[in-house]
Amino acid sequence: MSQPVNYSDRPWLDPEAEPFIKVQSVSKHFGDFTAVDSVDLEIYKGELFSLLGGSGCGKTTLLRMLAGFETPSSGSIVIDGVNMNNVPPYERPVNMMFQSYALFPHMTVENNVAYGLKRDGVARSEIGRRVADMLSMVELTRFAKRKPHQLSGGQRQRVALARALVKQPKVLLLDEPLGALDKRLRDQTQYELMNIQERLGVTFVVVTHDQEEAMTLSTRIAVMDAGRFMQIGTPTEIYEFPNSRLVAEFIGNANMFEGRVTENGPDHVAVEGKNPKCDFYIDHGMSIAEGTKVWIALRPEKIRISKEKPANSDTNSVRGMVHDIGYLGGTSTYRVKVGDDHLVEITSTNQSRPKDGNPPIDWDEEVFLYWEPSSSVVLTK
Ligand SMILES: Nc1ncnc2c1ncn2[C@@H]1O[C@H](COP(=O)(O)OP(=O)(O)OP(=O)(O)O)[C@@H](O)[C@H]1O
Ligand SMILES: [Mg+2]
Repeated sequence: MSQPVNYSDRPWLDPEAEPFIKVQSVSKHFGDFTAVDSVDLEIYKGELFSLLGGSGCGKTTLLRMLAGFETPSSGSIVIDGVNMNNVPPYERPVNMMFQSYALFPHMTVENNVAYGLKRDGVARSEIGRRVADMLSMVELTRFAKRKPHQLSGGQRQRVALARALVKQPKVLLLDEPLGALDKRLRDQTQYELMNIQERLGVTFVVVTHDQEEAMTLSTRIAVMDAGRFMQIGTPTEIYEFPNSRLVAEFIGNANMFEGRVTENGPDHVAVEGKNPKCDFYIDHGMSIAEGTKVWIALRPEKIRISKEKPANSDTNSVRGMVHDIGYLGGTSTYRVKVGDDHLVEITSTNQSRPKDGNPPIDWDEEVFLYWEPSSSVVLTK
């Protein structure tokens, strides 16, 4: 098996690096409906790449085309230097774990994992060794003789994973691998999945509609909508530098303010907000023509809240009234009414304990919200 890739290298930034999977202008039409709309994608060896998007946006369809269960209406897919257009699923260096993975209910864990190898005519002794290795890797050795119904949801998930990995695919395609698990098991299995992937160096392409999961797992994420890629980037890029309102709102929470560019300086832009009326000064190098209609996205954790008026309140600051407070222990979420009934969400860490049990900021109080010049993201679409 290949060596794990060190992702401090970031192969997608290296023009010399050769992608392991290349998807070129691939579309899929079902009748007159377009499920996947001319997408381009390059995935590097050892990546854990996520396709993220709402229900029906084309994630499974794209994955099925990579696996060979669906033929592209146009475009090409190259894996490991070989054009896959006429290669049937079983000859591709990929394995797919389906959205509703079905284990064989009457077979033991060990036989479930061995099934594909037996069918391929692998020698008995080798099957025994590979199955044992795989069960130990997913920590199911103790359960080898059990049937699926005698396992927990998370354990069944790991059997499905072992069954897919035992055939040593170069690429593993996983469709909602953690979808059937409850929140706690999901978190735990997420890390197991990452560990296994890192140890084997297999390239994972994971489909999910859970943005937290994609953020935790992935080297990079493609955000999909209506058969197209809206943005492809690392979790940090997608979260901190979304390229559109859709991506900003899909990944995490974002407060969105409509405005107009009033000044386009060499090192900053100024934006006049419409509702609330407030002036934004943004200091990161961007150039947008004066008069352009824009949206400012501000993440809840980038906004500070205080009862005192900040020193420099001409820009990047707005006055409001606390509408409600959600106390979550470690953090609090405030919703503050500003301007003409516009609600702004702020999350803040509860670093000190409240004196005499009273919260530092209370409902219906007047507060000031303010943020750094670098915190606003300016979006034009
Ligand atoms: N065989 C088919 N015939 C016709 N339409 C199809 C077919 N398969 C998928 N579609 C349509 O293509 C679109 C994309 O489907 P797909 O299964 O790829 O969505 P998805 O992103 O995986 O959604 P989910 O998160 O709900 O699984 C959907 O509107 C679906 O109804
Ligand atoms: Mg799907």
